[in-house]
Amino acid sequence: MQNAAITALGLNWRYLAFDVHPDNLRAAIDGAKAMKFIGLNLTVPHKLPALRMVDELDESAGSWGAVNTIRFEARDAEGEWRPLAHFAEGVPGAIRARGFNTDAEAVSRALREDLGLQQLRDTQVLLLGAGGAGRVTALKLASEGVAKLFLANRTARKAEEIAAEIRARFPDQDVTVGYPADKMDLVINTTSLGLKPEDPPPFDSREFSLSQARLVFDMIYRPAETPLLKAARASGCRAANGLGMLLYQGALALETWAGMSAPVDLMRRALEREIYGR
Ligand code: ATR
Repeated sequence: MQNAAITALGLNWRYLAFDVHPDNLRAAIDGAKAMKFIGLNLTVPHKLPALRMVDELDESAGSWGAVNTIRFEARDAEGEWRPLAHFAEGVPGAIRARGFNTDAEAVSRALREDLGLQQLRDTQVLLLGAGGAGRVTALKLASEGVAKLFLANRTARKAEEIAAEIRARFPDQDVTVGYPADKMDLVINTTSLGLKPEDPPPFDSREFSLSQARLVFDMIYRPAETPLLKAARASGCRAANGLGMLLYQGALALETWAGMSAPVDLMRRALEREIYGR
């Protein structure tokens, strides 16, 4: 999706994948800086350690506590830090690495565009999972001030930790660890359950039923339809998989590097071709 967009924008760039051992993350970031890369994306398990390896943290990375995008920058003639994409005639002087997070914004954009959820404020949400993705999603929902937030996870202690962080940072947020007895506007799966066809549902079916839900978002995008999404649609819910999140975090990263709007529709088609072969 990035290379399709880069070509469409007329940029003389390439997006490449590199497999980096965690022990070599700092060397990889410094090496990319030395080679004047435009930027980097990072995925698991690099998002947290990278916080300590960039020269500057954008507010997005600071507030969500994870880096998934790095932009390399240098000073222009006026002494202002600019993205390397800004310098047509070679990069002057020292380069710094600035860390961003585009995952959190991608969650709310996916909910808006793929589930038609315009107003997160009035929404009651059950969030399943309390790993890295669950934490960022929970904090983002709290920052948007959802009406009610329920956090359920196999290991309850991890959900409790996220609830405590929410209470400290967003004291007005209504947050509960466990399952709701009432109807929910939105259920979000951030667990890995559903990657394999034989996986059980990502919620405890003695505690919660999909008949309580109106909208269901599954962060998994492969398979395109997880058992959760299938069951959700069968019970009349509107449902979307996580492809939109992958798309929007990438589109936002490209915009961060290039300073131009990303061709999102073209990127979505490229992603679907690559992942689903259609
Ligand atoms: P990510 O970065 O994608 O969020 P993670 O941090 O490893 O990945 O989190 C995985 C999530 O899936 C966690 O909520 C995990 O539950 P635990 O906190 O109890 O480990 C959940 N998960 C993974 N396998 C599971 C399983 N077999 N049953 C229930 N939950 C599972």
